[in-house]
Amino acid sequence: MNPQLSPYPTTIFFEVTNHCNLRCLRCAMHGKDAVMRRPLGHMPKSVWKAAIREIGEWPTPVSVLTHGAGEPLLHPEILDILGFCKSFANIQVGFLTNGMLLTADISKALIDMGIDWIAMSIDGIDPVWHKKLRYPSDLRRITDNLENFLRIRQLRKNIPKVLLNMVMHPEIIDQGPKFVKLWIDRVETVMLAHCRIPPSSKRWPDTPSPRQACILPYQQMVIAQDGRLLMCCEDFDCQHSPGRFPEQKLLDIWQGSFLNKIRRYHQSGKWDAIPLCRDCDSWADGLDPVIEEDKVQGIKKTVRVSQTIYEKI
Ligand SMILES: C[S@@+](CC[C@H](N)C(=O)[O-])C[C@H]1O[C@@H](n2cnc3c(N)ncnc32)[C@H](O)[C@@H]1O
Ligand code: SF4
Repeated sequence: MNPQLSPYPTTIFFEVTNHCNLRCLRCAMHGKDAVMRRPLGHMPKSVWKAAIREIGEWPTPVSVLTHGAGEPLLHPEILDILGFCKSFANIQVGFLTNGMLLTADISKALIDMGIDWIAMSIDGIDPVWHKKLRYPSDLRRITDNLENFLRIRQLRKNIPKVLLNMVMHPEIIDQGPKFVKLWIDRVETVMLAHCRIPPSSKRWPDTPSPRQACILPYQQMVIAQDGRLLMCCEDFDCQHSPGRFPEQKLLDIWQGSFLNKIRRYHQSGKWDAIPLCRDCDSWADGLDPVIEEDKVQGIKKTVRVSQTIYEKI
């Protein structure tokens, strides 16, 4: 079955920066065998303001994720960017962070402006392994930051939602169940993500066959910090850019010939014609997940190709 093209993207990865304050071991952007070669920078105000304004004028709900190949809290204007997103009724906004810069002041500001969700990357429960895998992160500091955030939001109707993401590196795979148990009653969602090993970072361990068309070019837009669009969130190094903002309008790029050609390849099963797609398993994340409900423990478990998601029922 072919995916349906959304007239407007439903999800936008909005890379406010590709700088990072950590060097996580297997990060495809900043780790030991990183594949990202494009220049580093913070998205300039001339780009972020105009892009959010255009998105805010669309007549459909859009989920904007203000992260990409870096740490969003490093952007000096991150609070302005999120606040501007919140000024448009059709934009739902949140971001993934490594938590090192989530101070009490930043937490208060995020909660007060009413961002919709925040996700934190925490790899397990052991500080020694954590530092080795997410160098030079400090598990105690990010746990304190998270605890503080949870305390402050308790006073504000438990908004924004909090999600945690643990990567199941081979060295800490046994910590997965303990991590879920530790956090599941405190946050809305706990995710255990399969570990991808660069440089073949686009493979998942249990990808089913036969291959199908990928939904990403039909639903997702990715805007890099320099205004270039990426073909999808797997185009880490911007090898296939469909256009550049603000030289072109976002919607013109979405409806333009480059992305339509990619979609035609997928519709006709010729994904191997695109080198990025040939070596990527992320199409399988669009398949229906396996959902199990454990009513005794009150937990819903959603199994996707890339990750398993745990939520309180
Ligand atoms: C590129 S980061 C960007 C946001 C932010 N800097 C952070 O770490 O949360 C996106 C996510 O990829 C995860 N990640 C890093 N290396 C990974 C790997 N080898 N396999 C799977 N996920 C990985 C990170 O833990 C993080 O949750
Ligand atoms: S904090 Fe995020 S972007 Fe930075 S090195 Fe780690 S996974 Fe990569």
